[in-house]
Amino acid sequence: MDNTNYSVVSEFVLLGLSSSRELQIFYFVFFSMLYIVIILGNLLIIIAVTSDSSLHSPMYFLLGNLSFFDICQASFATPKMIVDFLSEHKTISFSGCIAQIFFIHLFTGGEMVILVSMAYDRYVAICKPLHYMTIMNQTTCTALVVISWAVGLVHTLSQLSFTVKLAFCGPNEVDSFFCDLPRVVKLACIDSYITEILIVVNSGILSLSTFSLLVSSYVIILVTVWFKSSAAMAKAFSTLAAHIMVVVLFFGPCIFIYVWPFTTYPVDKILAIFYTVFTPILNPIIYTLRNRDMKAVMGKIAAHYLRPPKVAEMSFVARISLY
Ligand SMILES: *[C@@H]1O[C@H](CO)[C@@H](O)[C@H](O)[C@H]1NC(C)=O
Repeated sequence: MDNTNYSVVSEFVLLGLSSSRELQIFYFVFFSMLYIVIILGNLLIIIAVTSDSSLHSPMYFLLGNLSFFDICQASFATPKMIVDFLSEHKTISFSGCIAQIFFIHLFTGGEMVILVSMAYDRYVAICKPLHYMTIMNQTTCTALVVISWAVGLVHTLSQLSFTVKLAFCGPNEVDSFFCDLPRVVKLACIDSYITEILIVVNSGILSLSTFSLLVSSYVIILVTVWFKSSAAMAKAFSTLAAHIMVVVLFFGPCIFIYVWPFTTYPVDKILAIFYTVFTPILNPIIYTLRNRDMKAVMGKIAAHYLRPPKVAEMSFVARISLY
């Protein structure tokens, strides 16, 4: 086939979440507020784990990096989606579209590996407590973060390398609020069957392998504590329940959308909201509301940055420590 015959698509139209005017205004308000909470919540976690020495442990180091991934994940498409709710012409340039594809696979790929690293950290802490400090040393922690970014980068570059050969000449309407790769590939005017297979295999290998690593580490941890005591079991379970919730909400939609992308379902774009908006907000909620150490540090930060009058500050700190 001769690609030069095609008129080249220079921009895509994003159909967004809804075409109803009232709903779009509601979404605008709703997602703007969510976005602000995501950014502030995750920034607060990053500030807390980097500034407070009581949180200088591998678990919080990884948590801080997860929050960083969450901010990235929530920011590559959501602000544009929010602005688009109010605009008539929801278009994105061709290079903007490629950039979104690049970032979503970079951040989701990296986030998957960070989640595995966090599960590994809990595995070492619970199953090999005596070796925790030697295994999870500074070098290991840094290596886990570097590996996360490297895996994300390799994953996204391979997805893009499958896609560059495609030509776009025909319809340019993407039925989503961002350039979701399976939907963009569907618009190609040369046969994209092989490309779709490569994309599925690439996403499938990454998401299914990290998902099975996560599930097996949780099973090993639960089996280990099962034989210790019911108190240890209850404690481990409450920690893991938080992890498992994030993992299900994050991997469920990813696997659904990317491992069966040959047929795109209307529900896909709703599911995409889960890993772009709902998982980034879960971590701050889970870790700040359920974790005693984190709550104490948050209280200190609030007292430091908000600088209320002296008396109020005292009572605020006192209230936190009474908590
Ligand atoms: C994330 O990882 C980097 C590199 O290992 C480290 O320098 C940084 O402090 C970490 N971020 C947080 C918020 O812990």
